[in-house]
Amino acid sequence: MAAAWFEDEIAAALAPLLPGLDVEVVAEIDSTSTELMRRARGGRSAPVLLVAERQTAGRGRLGRTWHSAQGPRDAASLTFSLGLPLAPRDWSGLSLAVGVSVAESLDGAATAGLRLKWPNDLWVEDRKLGGILIETAVLQPEAAERYLVIGIGLNVGPREDAGLGTPPAWIRQWRPLATAPELLRELLPPLVHDLQRFAERGFLAFADRFAARDTLRGREVTLSDGTEGRCEGVGWGGELLVRTDAGMKTITSAEVSVRPRPAQP
Ligand code: BTN
Repeated sequence: MAAAWFEDEIAAALAPLLPGLDVEVVAEIDSTSTELMRRARGGRSAPVLLVAERQTAGRGRLGRTWHSAQGPRDAASLTFSLGLPLAPRDWSGLSLAVGVSVAESLDGAATAGLRLKWPNDLWVEDRKLGGILIETAVLQPEAAERYLVIGIGLNVGPREDAGLGTPPAWIRQWRPLATAPELLRELLPPLVHDLQRFAERGFLAFADRFAARDTLRGREVTLSDGTEGRCEGVGWGGELLVRTDAGMKTITSAEVSVRPRPAQP
C-alpha cells in the first residue's frame, strides 16, 4: 500500500460515535459504494469505512461514471464510502447535509470559495472538486432504519479536464501540502457527528450552513428537463426552489440535474 491511511487512529477517533466501526483500505476495487451496497444486500449491516486507492468502476449520481484523477496513486484522489445503519425521521436533504460537513472540514473559513451545488457536488469557482453519492439498502421491511452508504470522491491533486462534464478543481490549489489520508482523517469525525445531528434534527439543522455555501442561489439555472428560471435556494427539506415564468418550481427528484446558466457577455 502506497500511503499510510491512519486506520487505527480513525477507528479510535470514531469509536465513541460509531462503536464497532471497521476501517478497511484496499489498493483497488470496482467501487467502494458498490461493494458496501453488495455487502448490505448480503445482510452485512455493521458500520464500515471502505477506502480505495483506485476504483475501476467508480459511480456518480444519475448513473454517471466517477473518474478518479490519474496520477501517483497516493496523491491524486480521495475515494471512500462510509456505511452505517441510520434511522432519521426524514431522509430529505441528507446529501446537502453531508456536503456542508465536508465543505466546512476542507475550507472552514470559506477562504478557498468551496461551495455546494445542489444536490451533491462540491464546487470551487464553478469547477467540480468532488461529489457525494447517497444510497440506502432496506434492512428489514417496514423498519425505519436503513443501511446508509455515503460515497465521497474528492480531487486532491491536479487533474485533466478531458472527459469531464464540469472542469475540475482540486484541494492542493489552496492546500498545497494536502494528502488524501490526512484529509480523510480530518473530515471523518465531523462527518459522523453531523450524520448523528441529521438523524436527530433533519436538514433543518443544516439549512443556514447550506445557504452560506449554496452556489446556485440567486443564479439563472437550466434543469435537465428543460425548465429555466432563477434559483431561490432550497426549502426546509433541501428541495431546490426555482422561480420560473410559470411560478415557483420545487425540485425534489433525484432524476433531475441543474446547471447555472453562463453569465451573458
Ligand atoms: C457524483 O459526483 O455524482 C458523486 C460522485 C461520488 C464518487 C464516490 S468515489 C467513492 C464512492 N464510490 C463510488 O463509486 N462513488 C463514490
